[in-house]
Amino acid sequence: MRGSGPVAERSAQRTADALVIFGITGDLARKMTFNALYRLEAAGKLDCPIVIGVAFDDWTDEQLRQAARDAVQGADEQVFTRLADRLGYLRGDFTDAALYEALAERLKGSSNVLYYLEIPPSLFATVVAGLGRAKLTQGARVMIEKPFGHDLASARALNRELHAVIEEEQILRIDHFLGKQPVEDIHFLRFANALLEPVWNRGHVAAVQITMAEDFGVEDRGAFYDAVGALRDVVQNHLLQVLALVAMEPPVVAGADALWDKELDVFRAMADADPARCVYGQYEGYQGIRGVKPGSATETYLALRLELDNWRWAGVPFLIRAGKALATRVTEVRVLFKHPPRLAFLEQPPYTAANQLVLRVDPDPGLRLLLQSKAADGRGSRGVHLDLPFVAELGRAPEPYERLFADALAGDRSLFTRQDVVEETWRVLQPLLDNPSPSETYQPGSWGPAAARHLTRGYPEWQDPWVPDDARTTQ
Ligand code: BG6
Repeated sequence: MRGSGPVAERSAQRTADALVIFGITGDLARKMTFNALYRLEAAGKLDCPIVIGVAFDDWTDEQLRQAARDAVQGADEQVFTRLADRLGYLRGDFTDAALYEALAERLKGSSNVLYYLEIPPSLFATVVAGLGRAKLTQGARVMIEKPFGHDLASARALNRELHAVIEEEQILRIDHFLGKQPVEDIHFLRFANALLEPVWNRGHVAAVQITMAEDFGVEDRGAFYDAVGALRDVVQNHLLQVLALVAMEPPVVAGADALWDKELDVFRAMADADPARCVYGQYEGYQGIRGVKPGSATETYLALRLELDNWRWAGVPFLIRAGKALATRVTEVRVLFKHPPRLAFLEQPPYTAANQLVLRVDPDPGLRLLLQSKAADGRGSRGVHLDLPFVAELGRAPEPYERLFADALAGDRSLFTRQDVVEETWRVLQPLLDNPSPSETYQPGSWGPAAARHLTRGYPEWQDPWVPDDARTTQ
């Protein structure tokens, strides 16, 4: 599977000389793609001379430029014009060979094309096959949007279909969480700090909690979301990727494959998820959303406990919870350390709380270390914290899609995912798909079903997330 043919070699190393975006008239383009391209242009990083948008809609080049203009707020006119000048539109049916012939005509002279498929996943294989038949995949890379399958079997089938035309090295699977700076920072923080790595194991860690709370509902995405649910929407991909970075061993050399090898080891050490350790929820009012099927059982909340069978983590629960319409918006990773022993020299043991390390991914990324200190009045101990606000200390990071586009254009694959890693995540979660529990109803603005508490029995309880000061709520 780790193909290393000449096609792959070339595509992995050279900067793209054309970018072709399938599905340019869709929602994602409006929300993310145009902005990412604009920001890259503004930063002087969009080297690629040709950008072609492809879709079925009857648009002209001018309409495409106008759509880009409408999507980018507060654009600098000069920067925008530089971007707009290289935008072109190609109309066609993705199942029609004529589209690919027309594309080949437009791409004459380009030898290292990046294709970006922001289209329904059911069309990935069709488009890649069309490109293959028109001999457009030589030296090219293909970037695809999640979901990569909807279960283990379909993920494998998709990979087989793609590999029938292109090599693994030519595929860039987007998980936009990997483009978030705090997520990218996880293994750096862990392995570049001699203070952290020695305590990052079952000897010192009592539990790891990963929370992705959103304070908005499914809104206008009813039809999409109802067929997907929280497990497939954010757990199988975003949150398991985060977990892998928290739990993996250090990569032994630089490069994407070395990183993925270690991520893969994490999932291989993970037993199949146990439906008895999973809680589903659906917020009240979900059934009334346009596009949601009457009587839908789709979960808008999921909490689960996973375990890793290896020396570093055996016995340490990895708890994940994700939900829509919760009390606040926050995504964080929280490492809960064990309690220190009772200390005879202190008058008032035990302590109030054990140490915790929190990495807030969104909003307002930062790192917080919770410690115990002696109270100023001399009476016992007090919880204190040290905060590292990323933007203030490290500067503003590029947006995820901006970073991912830049890497994809340059041929750097480390922030994307590999076939075997994706398939292994589906293997872990497959029992939940085979035996889904009924969803409990929860109130919008709450912290989800009360039953999620049972998952922490015998371990530290769910902690209130570290939310920015202006959005504080308690569970
Ligand atoms: C997407 C999901 O992948 O990630 C959405 O489809 C979710 O349902 C979104 O809201 C969250 O991403 P972010 O970057 O806004 O936290």
